[in-house]
This record gives sequence, structure tokens and C-alpha cells, in this order.
Amino acid sequence: MRGSVHASADGLWFNLRVAPGALTVDSPPDSDALLVQGGQIAWVGRLADAVLPPATPRHDAGGCWLTPGLIDCHTHLVYGGQRANEFALRLAGASYEEVARAGGGIVSSVRATREASEDELLASASARLQSLLAEGVCAIEIKSGYGLSLAHERKQLRVARRLGELHGLTVRTTFLGAHALPPEYAGRSADYVDLVCREMLPALAAEGLVDAVDVFCERIAFSLAETEQVFQAAQALGLPVKLHAEQLSDMGGAALAARYGALSCDHIEHLSAEGIAAMRRSGTVAVLLPGAFYTLRDTQVPPIQALREAGVPMAVSTDHNPGTSPALSLLLMVNMACTLFRLTVPEALAGVTRHAAQALGLQDSHGQLGPGRPANWVLWPVGEVAELAYWLGQRPRPTVVRQGRITQTP
Ligand code: NIG
Ligand code: FE
Repeated sequence: MRGSVHASADGLWFNLRVAPGALTVDSPPDSDALLVQGGQIAWVGRLADAVLPPATPRHDAGGCWLTPGLIDCHTHLVYGGQRANEFALRLAGASYEEVARAGGGIVSSVRATREASEDELLASASARLQSLLAEGVCAIEIKSGYGLSLAHERKQLRVARRLGELHGLTVRTTFLGAHALPPEYAGRSADYVDLVCREMLPALAAEGLVDAVDVFCERIAFSLAETEQVFQAAQALGLPVKLHAEQLSDMGGAALAARYGALSCDHIEHLSAEGIAAMRRSGTVAVLLPGAFYTLRDTQVPPIQALREAGVPMAVSTDHNPGTSPALSLLLMVNMACTLFRLTVPEALAGVTRHAAQALGLQDSHGQLGPGRPANWVLWPVGEVAELAYWLGQRPRPTVVRQGRITQTP
């Protein structure tokens, strides 16, 4: 059977090969079967030990490898237009910063996003989401940051929520009002940050549209002091923070974010030893974004070995956005994290499951499989797990179980 089905996943799943790290610690290590009841995992173990209620449906997994549903923990999926023209400009020698300073960059996506209706944004983001869902993504983070006014940020975040309902996946929304200075505030950065902190964030949080708060802390975006002002506003509302940190330069953003107990620091190509130590102390996840690194032809590799030695959990994400990472394959990011950043295959797979869940505060329900958790997983028709990182430009078409439904069969 090929295509998209939406049958219940309830029943016994057997003939599974469990990928390393896929199960919670309370699950037997030699498990080869799962029981689903009411969309939740009821039991994990050896088939021979299964105690089944009468008339339990049976699903033969055919020896496929089992991983948890994948998690894309850093995306800017909702926006208008696209920016292929900037790709050409950069090929001709312009840098990302030069394009941004010349009025391109984020601000040009802001224009296109403001012009688009909520339904238009929903349609374009839905089409992009399909690529990720086909790869087994069951949870995604979606940031605002291309609206940069209360009404347009609200529009983006509403689309993010609607995507979750429409496609049946977990969506975590992140308010990124401090992504760039909108043109109408040119030269008035302090006024804009006040607007973000005093009006936009409180209003959107009150509407239930904000799960976390992010800032682009960079020379071409917001300063360390402005970042802290936004973090204080988030803290006052009880919202967790994360940060676009040390992407183009070492601003000291990671250490600041760690002081606010950040869920994650993302990009971190220029992360310092102090930043790593602070992240270790606060349990902050390092989110690696090889798609942006690749697209910008960056050469400064994040300090992977130091993060590894410090025991900082590393996640891997698409950073899907129209400027620096038009990537719609999380498995390609797994490949690039290995090839460009020298992650091991198990590290990269933890990066799109367990550690990605932690970067979103979802570690108690997502990123690993075990009793009491929702049925979110992927069955991969591959001979060995390393194939998930190995293939380039083609992917094994998996069986996907999301929120207790079989949403795709090979
Ligand atoms: O994560 N670094 C800042 N924000 C995005 C890029 C946004 C854009 O260029 O549109 C990123 O890379
Ligand atoms: Fe980003």
C-alpha cells in the first residue's frame, strides 16, 4: 500500500528492530514489539512476553528499523515569497551581512510576509511542511519574526498553530519579534525593543500564541543589552527563552541566555569556552544548523569537540528559512551534521530526536519511545541505521505513525 492513510495505530507492532537510543530507559533493551492503546504506547518489550487483550490488531513491521518521530526544533517555516535572488548575489560575492545592510535579507521577507494573507501563508507553509512530514517529522518548532508588528507577528503565529491542527503534529511556537529592525523603526532600535517587550509579547502571550521567546543577537540585529531586555519580558511572563547566538560573531549571547535558563542556543559557530561552560551549567541544548552553515558557505565550524567533552546535548535542525537555509529535509541535515560538523551517526540521530525534544522542553513526551508516551514513530526500510545519515538526495520512504495514526505507508 502506498500513500497517505490515517488508520489508527492501535494494536501490537512486532518484527521491529529498535534503533539505539530510541527507547526510554525504563523499556527493556532487547525489545522488538510495541503495544498501542488509544493512541498511546501501552507496553514495550519482547514479542514473546506480550500479554494481549482479545482481538488486538497486529501490525507486522517487516524488520524495519524503529526510531522515534523526528523533531525539527528550529524553523522559520511561515513566510511570504522566497529569496533566490540573494542566493545569486552571494554567489557573485556579496556576504549575508552586506545583503542585509543593503535592505535585502530578513526585511525583504518581512515585506512579502506582511503582504500575504493568513490563508496564503497557511497554504505555502503547509506545502513546505509536507516534505518534513514525509520524512517522519512529528514535532516542529515554528518561529515568528517576519511580521515585526503586532498584527503580522500574530498572523504568523496563528498560522503556526493552525498547521499543527491541520496536519496533526506537535507545533511549538516561538515569538521572534526581535529578529530584525522593521523599516519603519530605522534608527530607533530602542523604541522597537520597547514595543516588542511592552506590547507585542504580552499581547501574543495572552492569546496563547507563544510557547517560547527568541532573539537574533548579532551585529546586524540586536545587541546583548537589547537581548536581555527581551529575556526579562519573557521571564516576567513565565516563558522560556532561546537564542540565535554567536552565528556571525561572538557576542556573548550564549552565556547571557544560559543565565536565563535558555532551552537552547542555536547556530553557535563562534561560541566561546565561557559560553560552553555556561550552557553546561544551565542544561541548555546546543542546536546545530548545518543548512545555514552550508548555504552561507561558512567556514567557522561550531566547537563540536568542546561541546561533546562538556556533555552539552547537541540537537540538529533545518533552520528552514528563505534566506540562509531553504532546507526541507531533516535527514539531509543529519547527513551534513556528520559530514560538515563531524557528528557521529548516533549523535546526529539523537540530535533530531531526544536532544531536539529537550530543545523544545518536550523531553517528557517526545524524542524517545516508552510506555505512557504518544505513538509517534518512524519505521525505516533500511538495512542499517547509518543509512539514515548516508543517502544524499534520496530518502528511504518510511512508515510514519504520528499522534496515534498511521499517516504514511511506504
Ligand atoms: O536562523 N539568523 C537569523 N535568522 C535566520 C535567517 C533569517 C533570514 O535570513 O531570513 C537564521 O539563519
Ligand atoms: Fe534561525
